[in-house]
Amino acid sequence: MENHSDATIHKPVLTSEVLQNLQVFAGGFYIDCTLGDGGHTKAILDLGGFVLGIDKDPEAITHSRKRLDSYGERFDSVQGSFSSLIEMSGSSLFPRIDGILFDLGFSSRQIEEGGRGFSFKSNDPLDMRFDPGIGLKAADFVNQADEQQLTYVLKTYGEESWARSIAKNIVRERPFNTSLQLASMVGRVIKRRRGMKIHPATKTFQALRIHVNDEMTVLESGLKQAISLLSQGGRLAVISYHSLEDRIAKNTISQESKNCLCPPQILQCVCNHQATVKKITRKPIVPSEIEIRENPRSRSARLRVAERK
Ligand SMILES: C[S@@+](CC[C@H](N)C(=O)[O-])C[C@H]1O[C@@H](n2cnc3c(N)ncnc32)[C@H](O)[C@@H]1O
Repeated sequence: MENHSDATIHKPVLTSEVLQNLQVFAGGFYIDCTLGDGGHTKAILDLGGFVLGIDKDPEAITHSRKRLDSYGERFDSVQGSFSSLIEMSGSSLFPRIDGILFDLGFSSRQIEEGGRGFSFKSNDPLDMRFDPGIGLKAADFVNQADEQQLTYVLKTYGEESWARSIAKNIVRERPFNTSLQLASMVGRVIKRRRGMKIHPATKTFQALRIHVNDEMTVLESGLKQAISLLSQGGRLAVISYHSLEDRIAKNTISQESKNCLCPPQILQCVCNHQATVKKITRKPIVPSEIEIRENPRSRSARLRVAERK
């Protein structure tokens, strides 16, 4: 049974579009690579599907297990990164895989009650790891990296035009141990300009989160593994929330839908690449105005879909 008193529960985005595009059916077998609070998984289970849910965050696994316990053997979950998707999918006894979903980024629960420094609004330790048992904390990077490395990360993963000034100030004022401490320094560097719609620290926090979790590298690998796991006619659905993620989803699907990847000046194919998917969405599916009004977090969502050949 769902606990409706839980105010921080994550509201899944583009749910009916995901169900429709994954062509979910009773008795179908699905992998949710970013289980979170299990919102999309629950919708698939409600249509009679079987789901293996994966999440890097041990807390997400605990919450969704509690929430989805009543679905019995149709739901199973495993903690880990989708960078090891092929290996982790082995824990299910699925005879085939009809659909795989990636709903990228972080959940409302992680930002609102995680206590891991994902939010620039609360005063948490500057951690930002999805799996608190693995890798460097954001504070380690911020307090140890040189100015050039900091600038690179802020520019590349945050597309932050103030990257250099922020990096300079980090080096001058560190150590930084909490999210609020970092956010207020960034706020001082980028004074909120008229018409600025986002908090000045949004891009810095995005960049650090992506870097700490190595999100861009694991995404490309996860998508390729997903394509290789799908059965013929199975569907891949990817929801991204910023242009870097969307570019990786778009390029991976584009590449995998081509029969040859040789540069145009090579007249006869030497790569022998064979298309593994058919593109289903030429343009990404975006949320309706009603969904954006009801769930403002959905406003930047983009859904791309491909079908295994
Ligand atoms: C937007 S939330 C998913 C919300 C979910 N669809 C729902 O309806 O509740 C993204 C989730 O992906 C997880 N995540 C991020 N990177 C991951 C990775 N490399 N492997 C597995 N899970 C990951 C995060 O921990 C987070 O719980």
